Amino acid sequence: MCGIVGYVGHRNVVDVIFKGLTNLEYRGYDSAGMALLDQNEIKVFKSLGKLINLKNVLSESSAQLTAPTSGIGHIRWATHGSPSLENAHPHTCTCGKLAVVHNGIIENYKELREELIKKGCKFRSQTDTETIAHLVAHEYENAKDLEIAVRNAVKKLQGAYAICVMHQNVPDVIIGARKNAPMLVGVGEGENFIASDTPAIIEYTKKTIYLDDNEIAVVTKNSIKITDIHGAVINKKVETLPWEPVALSKLGYKHFMLKEIHEQPDIIRNILNGKIYDIDSPVVLNEVKIDKDTLKKLNKIQIIACGTSLHAAMVGKYLIEDFAGISVDVEPSSEYIYRKTTTDSSTLVIGVSQSGETADTITAIKQAKEKNSHVLIITNRPDSYMARLADSLIPVNAGIEVSVAATKSYIAQLISFYLLALHLGEIKGTLSGDFLKNIKHELIQLPTKIEEILSNASSIKECARIFSSFKNFIYIARGINLATAYEGALKLKEISYINATGYPAGELKHGPIAMLDETMPVLSILIPGGITYDKILSNSEEAKARNAKLIALTSSDDENLKALFDVVLKIPHVCEILSPAICCVPLQLLAYYIAEFLGKDVDQPRNLAKSVTVE
Ligand code: G6P
Repeated sequence: MCGIVGYVGHRNVVDVIFKGLTNLEYRGYDSAGMALLDQNEIKVFKSLGKLINLKNVLSESSAQLTAPTSGIGHIRWATHGSPSLENAHPHTCTCGKLAVVHNGIIENYKELREELIKKGCKFRSQTDTETIAHLVAHEYENAKDLEIAVRNAVKKLQGAYAICVMHQNVPDVIIGARKNAPMLVGVGEGENFIASDTPAIIEYTKKTIYLDDNEIAVVTKNSIKITDIHGAVINKKVETLPWEPVALSKLGYKHFMLKEIHEQPDIIRNILNGKIYDIDSPVVLNEVKIDKDTLKKLNKIQIIACGTSLHAAMVGKYLIEDFAGISVDVEPSSEYIYRKTTTDSSTLVIGVSQSGETADTITAIKQAKEKNSHVLIITNRPDSYMARLADSLIPVNAGIEVSVAATKSYIAQLISFYLLALHLGEIKGTLSGDFLKNIKHELIQLPTKIEEILSNASSIKECARIFSSFKNFIYIARGINLATAYEGALKLKEISYINATGYPAGELKHGPIAMLDETMPVLSILIPGGITYDKILSNSEEAKARNAKLIALTSSDDENLKALFDVVLKIPHVCEILSPAICCVPLQLLAYYIAEFLGKDVDQPRNLAKSVTVE
């Protein structure tokens, strides 16, 4: 959510910041802006909407620029104040000599703003961020030192912030500070960077220093100084980023989402490689750092997550309860944090997050840590703040995900839950040898089955064409695939803006059936051989009797289904317990193709952001 890039160095400053923002654009696209130090003067350029508009503004204004030597840039996902030009970052102080970009929310900005107005500051926007610009400028007038001014200013801020500040009287120095929002320093040679996330700098350097809360980084092209809130210098570790810039390329696919859907078979292979050596050996999950005696005694697990990760967590609950017989609660992080929970030192708390940055989940994890729970984090970003809070960390290794709608990270989270649940079951001795062999064998087959779906996607595309004009959908399922129904419907909502709802099939008759008619298609997830097949079939009949158009997503070979369903989407044979990892793929493709037919912005749907760093 929002993105920050700061640069000082020998390269073309506009190009570096623009490239960095491009690689962060999945985080927000309401507006964009840059402040550049050019000929000893801060010059600010802003545009509304996507980043491409900033490019146009910059080229139209090229006559105003000679050779900027440092700068800060921002892409915005609006929180305080509408997505307007005045509200776009960077924000400046009254005289315009100081510029700031900010991610997060300043909770006490109204009080600060009133005080600053009384002191003569002229506000131009509705944002909380502008308060920071005036506050730092005011502190600078007193301290005559930008580093001290930033330190004094952040002490007065309540809420969450990652900020990057520059002042024309302190040329070619950029200062970053953070609290409850990610920020890092990219370490180069004769150049350095400040950014809110690693994709912004990966083109130029893989060396990174992650700032922690209440730390301040003073960065020039040849120096990086990091201090705590009291000004004491801290020696931070320089880490090396694990991935290549190529991860940010579409590799010939029309959208990142389609590319990421197609990456899924190889992602599963990579995850299983090294975890399941053969079907006769136990799962190797050294990442779980709880000793076996504690694991054996464990009688409660709480899983907290948001969005798509929450749906992976729901599958995880089903698996852990089934394989290991441990009771599991799943809860949206935003609900967990506002109630009295029963979490204690004997609870294993699992946080699931693609980005490792989601503010609600971070707050929930911190609360669980305060109660002395062992915290296990399942994330796609082992370099994230959430990962650094973990007692045990399972990196899902899906590679960087650019499309705002999560796909490959979801399947990677699912596979991680299969491994975790099997691991717990093996430790507790709750699973028979035959079951273990079969399930491991079937897990290893998953990538080939998904490849089959991907290479026969024409029926899904045709289904998307037929149904793209409908305004409402219900996805029904029971048992382990209820989460699949939620996730399939969420994908459709996110990228096509169609009102799609996942619903327990058995609950249809208790309310939603009232909405059914020929305008409301019902998609049923039907896996034969399991305990839910016949019941969902009956629920589909009930929908048919109300004239609903029916779609089946099924591995059944039963030809009679064609008489009941308007469209039958076939998937390869799979046992019910593993079917969520197969069924999610056609539902991702269905959502993708419907959004494509409707001409929607698939990778950057309106109003959404890839990582949500506000509660
Ligand atoms: C945002 C994204 C969703 C994501 C959710 C949770 O809303 O748009 O795709 O599922 O955040 O994110 P996390 O990174 O914690 O999985």
